Amino acid sequence: MIFPRVLTPLSSVVAALATTMILHEQRAEAPAGFIRVGAAPASEVITLRVGLTSNNVDGLDEQLTSIATPGSSNFRQWLSMDEVKTYAQPSAETVSAFDDFVSANGLTPTVISPNGDWLSIRLPVSKANELFTADFEHFTHPSINGYITRTLCLATFGAKRTCHILQHNTPATETSNTLLVTAYTGQHAEEADLAQFLTTFHPDIPNSTTFTLLTLGNGTNPQGPLDAGVEADLDIEYAAGIATNVPLDFLSVAEGDLGTALFDTTAYLDGIADPPTVVTTSYGNDEANFGASVATKICNGYMALGARGISIIFASGDGGVRGGHDNITQCTNNTFIPVFPATCPFVTSVGGTQDFAPEKAMNSSSGGFSNFFPTASYQAAAVSAFLETLPGDFAGIFNASGRGYPDVSTQGWNFQIVHDGEVVGARGTSASAPTFASIIALINDRLVAAQKPVLGFLNPWLYSTASSAFTDITTGHNSGLICPASCVAFDATVGWDPLSGWGTPNFADLLAAAME
Ligand SMILES: *[C@@H]1O[C@H](CO)[C@@H](O)[C@H](O)[C@H]1NC(C)=O
Ligand SMILES: *[C@@H]1O[C@H](CO)[C@@H](O)[C@H](O)[C@H]1NC(C)=O
Ligand SMILES: *[C@@H]1O[C@H](CO)[C@@H](O)[C@H](O)[C@H]1NC(C)=O
Ligand SMILES: *[C@@H]1O[C@H](CO)[C@@H](O)[C@H](O)[C@H]1NC(C)=O
Ligand SMILES: *[C@@H]1O[C@H](CO)[C@@H](O)[C@H](O)[C@H]1NC(C)=O
Ligand SMILES: *[C@@H]1O[C@H](CO)[C@@H](O)[C@H](O)[C@H]1NC(C)=O
Repeated sequence: MIFPRVLTPLSSVVAALATTMILHEQRAEAPAGFIRVGAAPASEVITLRVGLTSNNVDGLDEQLTSIATPGSSNFRQWLSMDEVKTYAQPSAETVSAFDDFVSANGLTPTVISPNGDWLSIRLPVSKANELFTADFEHFTHPSINGYITRTLCLATFGAKRTCHILQHNTPATETSNTLLVTAYTGQHAEEADLAQFLTTFHPDIPNSTTFTLLTLGNGTNPQGPLDAGVEADLDIEYAAGIATNVPLDFLSVAEGDLGTALFDTTAYLDGIADPPTVVTTSYGNDEANFGASVATKICNGYMALGARGISIIFASGDGGVRGGHDNITQCTNNTFIPVFPATCPFVTSVGGTQDFAPEKAMNSSSGGFSNFFPTASYQAAAVSAFLETLPGDFAGIFNASGRGYPDVSTQGWNFQIVHDGEVVGARGTSASAPTFASIIALINDRLVAAQKPVLGFLNPWLYSTASSAFTDITTGHNSGLICPASCVAFDATVGWDPLSGWGTPNFADLLAAAME
């Protein structure tokens, strides 16, 4: 089946758009485990979130890099809510282009983020299919009751409208996966102009081509809490156990779609004038399940929070090089699976270690390289030094030009917790991330007492003046919790590596580096 169908234009705006669609996002097949149920009924009303392009992401990136890099003149001069908004909000042109589009199509969007860059629209499937050249269907998964409504392809404005959807039940092949976009040829002058104008925004629709369920429960879920056998809300207890007397809030996000939950969290924090200085989350999913544009939009949200002086911390994952959780069917597959949001360059991702003397990286500590985000400038030297340690015949398949993660690690195996009055051991980077967050909160506490600014976005500091404040972890092999140790994976090395990052923090040294 090849789209587009013939549209009945509703107005001149739509008439023009109908011939100038740009492929927004597509995937050849739903991710493994999802089962197609059938076409979504035309009358089903769905809610789509639309992310408008922020007017100056590059400017915010540049500003944040400067503020977060030791030695710069504005080091740690974090921005206010309103200052961040000037970068994060969409431009007037973007807003007006989007307003024209929605009013021409009888849609009533609701602005759902303080920075005005996310909107929500409710519309029937028939209209969503028509306006976005989509093909909304129902999919189910063994871990859920019922179904979710998703499309494998979604096109928006800016170039020739060419969103080809694979035939149902046709296995995906390399070839079928690459023929999906036809570049805009600019045949008609008015189309070219309109395209130029309209590419000032790109809708991102997290729960359309994104397959990221948020299901609480255990490590057998395709995603979910990045720990095996413990509940997500233990995170607050892990943190409270270490950062005693540091005020702590637990933000609970409704069960549903992980991308939506992550976005809801950033939107909530964007709207708080006096936000917490450290935020830690122990959830993630295989990066590919998000899709690049949604992952980028969410990651830019962490950039904006980092610029306000918030340290954003994520667990790296519990599947070693094989995603958030490895499973036995994947062990001989050497294509490594990175985990998002741990791969976002604006979060600090935390891997896990076990044992003492020597302390080693856990086999399950997720780490590797992003396929969406390039190696961050702050880590360029660390990553290239690690890559030089790999043998020429290294069998692992990964993106050597991607953002390397995790950044740091802490203990995550046999982590002592009190449960129902009993001391028991828990495991997972879900324990490691709040542990590291607690250490950062304790250091912030000392900085505030000394009337110094808080640590904020950590990474440029972690990879420079603070890198020697860690116990280097030099043993470990992240083949996964389930996959045997003989499976291809990374090895911990001297210096930064994609299992343990810089290693585990030495509190006194990290505090001294923070006070410098
Ligand atoms: C294991 O992973 C494979 C490939 O990703 C997937 O098809 C399968 O459903 C997974 N099994 C479990 C039990 O999660
Ligand atoms: C998107 O997610 C929201 C909240 O989880 C849900 O209400 C809505 O039905 C979803 N839309 C689609 C297309 O699945
Ligand atoms: C936890 O894993 C078990 C074993 O696979 C499964 O039967 C159970 O449904 C899972 N529980 C939840 C809450 O997902
Ligand atoms: C190996 O894993 C990659 C990444 O998940 C996947 O795209 C590919 O289909 C897998 N290959 C096989 C033969 O299962
Ligand atoms: C590898 O990473 C780079 C930088 O992020 C990206 O441009 C490229 O598309 C990635 N390659 C693959 C095959 O994912
Ligand atoms: C991974 O490490 C843990 C902790 O040492 C161990 O219990 C588990 O058996 C290891 N997994 C494999 C497949 O060897």
